[in-house]
Amino acid sequence: MCGIVGYIGVRAASDILLAGLEKLEYRGYDSAGIATVRDGDVHCVRAKGKLHNLRDKMAGIENPARLGIGHTRWATHGKPEEYNAHPHMDVARRVAVVQNGIIENYRELREELKSKGHEFRSETDTEVIPHLIAECLTKLGDSPSPFLDAVREAVNHLQGAFAIAAINADYPDELIVARQQAPLAIGFGQGEFFCASDTPALVPHTNAVLNLENGELAKLTPLGIEVYNFAGDRLKKHPRTLDWNPIQVEKQGFKHFMLKEIYEQPGVVRACLEAYLDEKWSAADTTSPVKLDLSSILDENLEHVQILACGTSWHAALVGKYLIEQLAEIPTMVQYASEFRYAPAPLTANTLTVGVTQSGETADTLAALEMEKERRTGKPPEFQPRLLGITNRPESSLGLLVPQTIDLHAGMEIGVAATKTFIAQLMAFYALALELAYRRKTIAPIRLEEIIAGLRQLPSQIEQILESQERYIEELAHEFSETQDFIFLGRGINFPIALEGALKLKEISYIHAEGYPAGEMKHGPIALLDAKVPVVAIAMQGSVYDKVLSNAQEAKARDSRLIGVTPMDDPEAEETFDDLLPVPPVEELLSPILAVIPLQLLAYHIAARRGLDVDQPRNLAKSVTVE
Ligand code: AGP
Repeated sequence: MCGIVGYIGVRAASDILLAGLEKLEYRGYDSAGIATVRDGDVHCVRAKGKLHNLRDKMAGIENPARLGIGHTRWATHGKPEEYNAHPHMDVARRVAVVQNGIIENYRELREELKSKGHEFRSETDTEVIPHLIAECLTKLGDSPSPFLDAVREAVNHLQGAFAIAAINADYPDELIVARQQAPLAIGFGQGEFFCASDTPALVPHTNAVLNLENGELAKLTPLGIEVYNFAGDRLKKHPRTLDWNPIQVEKQGFKHFMLKEIYEQPGVVRACLEAYLDEKWSAADTTSPVKLDLSSILDENLEHVQILACGTSWHAALVGKYLIEQLAEIPTMVQYASEFRYAPAPLTANTLTVGVTQSGETADTLAALEMEKERRTGKPPEFQPRLLGITNRPESSLGLLVPQTIDLHAGMEIGVAATKTFIAQLMAFYALALELAYRRKTIAPIRLEEIIAGLRQLPSQIEQILESQERYIEELAHEFSETQDFIFLGRGINFPIALEGALKLKEISYIHAEGYPAGEMKHGPIALLDAKVPVVAIAMQGSVYDKVLSNAQEAKARDSRLIGVTPMDDPEAEETFDDLLPVPPVEELLSPILAVIPLQLLAYHIAARRGLDVDQPRNLAKSVTVE
């Protein structure tokens, strides 16, 4: 949440900062601002609302400054008004700071600083930082690197999760950055250096990137980078090389990133198949078909799995639970990370804890995993932590926290509504469940071979849905542009897909939508139904097919318009539903991957039809890095 950028080098900073903020706007878009150091002063421009407002304000202003910082905000403390927009400055307007995160002890610090004469201009937690740095600077005149030391002293007073970038009119060759529980990457160029909350802002300039770790700060000058810990010790750090190219973070002709990302899903499934499964494996082999090396966390003693996640990742976890329980016969618990943190289940022995987060930066998921690690450390061997992360960003905070991750190979996802990373999370759970089932011998090799053959069909089946359905769904969506409520029904392995269909619709179209287990409707929610409330039911062939059709009939009897995600050419489905979103024939166990595609398209086209900002829906941010 919130995106920060910084630049120091040989080029005009403000254009680079604006371009960087554009790449980070998915992290928040309540306001934006830029501060640069020029002619011995800090120049700051800020604007309420989206980045284009800031662009408009800066249009025509020549600014040759070669040092600057920028921010795009998702409001936590203080309304989304210009006076609360970052950068924030000290009283003398010499120090400017941008921050991503929350300073938990800002009230105490603010009172203390006020008592020393500092006047505050905003309602934010961040504003204490420039004042604190300025205060520290007054005591550090003799230090060889006063600005760096002042920032270091200041961050040692801060509590909470934060990443900051700071500039100072008196130190025009220094950009200081610091990280504590919020992401911050440094990009290495030729005589120029960059910092950003996320790598898409860096890849247009460089592939050499260093991710700061918690408790680290760095001094960037046109000559190089020095990294220190918060205690002041110099650290040896080297950048890694990213294998991304700038094209990956462009829309490539699609109207929105979300639509592009929906269309990337066949490729993502192929990438997962290649990464997770042995291409040559057959039922006659005596090794696992799963290529992931999970031996350090999986052994024959494993008794329980617990999965912690938020939002769409939580829905993927529910599918994961189904797969692990049905294929590997291990009791599996799925918890919202934000709930688990404050009411963890009693400790169970020999338990694998899986954290699922596409961004690898979701504060609740990270905190829940940290808590689990802490409460198990020092306990008898059977209670020791065994942590696994499932993420699209193995280099993220999650990657630093857990010893083992499954990489989702989905490429950068920019649309705030997760689509291709969800599909990849499902693929990761298929791989994990198959590996567990193979190890525990709960699945016959021939059945394993059958499931793998089915998985290999998925990319072309998704392509088939995209080719045959998109135009139709676009037209169908027109009929719902004024609809106010939707119900999504599913059962068994497709109940989480009903939840996901409803979440996609509500987050981008702002239509109220509920996902429900189809059999639960009659216990209350059926009272909501009438001709104005369409019902989308996922009715895939398998153990609950007839049951879902009956539940759909119950909705029809209450005048609801019935939309069915069903197998292609199914006469019973054709008779039951008013509108069909058919998918190619697939076995029930694999059906979530196909069933979710028409629901993503439906949500997308309804939102696009309503003229909404699909990629940056109101009040949301892609990485939820605050509690
Ligand atoms: C997905 O469409 C949502 N924007 C949101 O629910 C998201 O899945 C959630 O915030 C978790 O994000 P993560 O996977 O990065 O942890």
